[in-house]
Amino acid sequence: MKRKFLSVLLAGALAVSMLAGCGGGNDAAETTTETTDTAETDAAETDTADADAAETDASAGGLIGVSMPTQDLQRWNQDGSNMKAELEAAGYTVELQYASNDIATQVSQIETMITNGCELLVIASIDGDSLGTVLAQAKEQGIPVIAYDRLIMNSDAVSYYATFDNYLVGQTQGQYIVDALDLDNAEGPFNMEIVTGDPGDNNVNYFYGGAMDVLQPYIDAGKLVVPSGQIAKEEVATANWATETAQSRFENILSSYYADGTQLDVVLASNDSTALGVANALASNYTGEYPILTGQDCDIANVKNIVDGKQSMSVFKDTRTLASQVVKMVEAVMQGGEAEVNDTETYDNGTGVIPSYLCEPVIVDSSNYQELLIDSGYYTEADLQ
Ligand code: BGC
Repeated sequence: MKRKFLSVLLAGALAVSMLAGCGGGNDAAETTTETTDTAETDAAETDTADADAAETDASAGGLIGVSMPTQDLQRWNQDGSNMKAELEAAGYTVELQYASNDIATQVSQIETMITNGCELLVIASIDGDSLGTVLAQAKEQGIPVIAYDRLIMNSDAVSYYATFDNYLVGQTQGQYIVDALDLDNAEGPFNMEIVTGDPGDNNVNYFYGGAMDVLQPYIDAGKLVVPSGQIAKEEVATANWATETAQSRFENILSSYYADGTQLDVVLASNDSTALGVANALASNYTGEYPILTGQDCDIANVKNIVDGKQSMSVFKDTRTLASQVVKMVEAVMQGGEAEVNDTETYDNGTGVIPSYLCEPVIVDSSNYQELLIDSGYYTEADLQ
């Protein structure tokens, strides 16, 4: 486990040097800033841009449908705009849609993409189990589907899956807690609470599962205790990964189990939107020493919290890396070839294992955010003010 953890850190250093070396950071950083600030305008503009592009460009590379779950979370805006920019640079026309975290909206947007003549679909699903019927239509019409970041379950229409190594994300968070509390040597017990994401998102099984595989032995040994008793995945889930939902659940936990001055030592939060809810709840409902708090995505609000000492770490999944990998997949499939994968064992969607490309996540904390997030061009200093 330790060795794997070290390799994550080393991979991070390598990723930084590669990013610095390829010199592509600045463009992507501009896209990031623009998208974050003007997400809605961008989406509205997208339609017009697509229509123009469709007239001039459709014959060049073909029309690709990109379906993203929501604009509520920073990362999906970046994923969407990175994908669009990279696909267009490669000569494709892009129909990009965000589905407001509403399953019916996503289904109907995908139906429209099929009707509009999209030749390939890239989909980050809201609920991995809800796209079977519409994707059966895609399959019937010979339209290949790439699952983006989240695996689409129980559909044999999915050709490939590209994501960050989700199990490793969970393990990394768990191992961070083990190291930060020195659980192998310290006696404890330490008080821990757990917050994970939407039960319809297949990634939750890996984030939660990876972290708990690392932490469960310490719970069993009594070194970690969970005063709320809420440990099972269903008990610690957060619908739609919503910050407000995580915050109100956490306010209840704080008032029910910590109001008497009980020290909260650590919170395992699966991502940044839920970690933000925890940090907000702590700010107004907790006076003890700040707990260790994990996250994922390096959202701007959370990086600011890391700098301010209100969140300990976040797992960085560079959306530029994932978009580039998916664009490579699109190109291979559109040219009638096979896409590069590096995992053919892990991600069974219920119809068989989906060939996958797993990118490697990296830990960000107050010691390396400058190097990984700013020097790499992912954010500017001004983004974090
Ligand atoms: C993604 C995370 C994200 C979460 C909420 C997950 O499927 O992998 O990066 O934080 O969804 O949007």
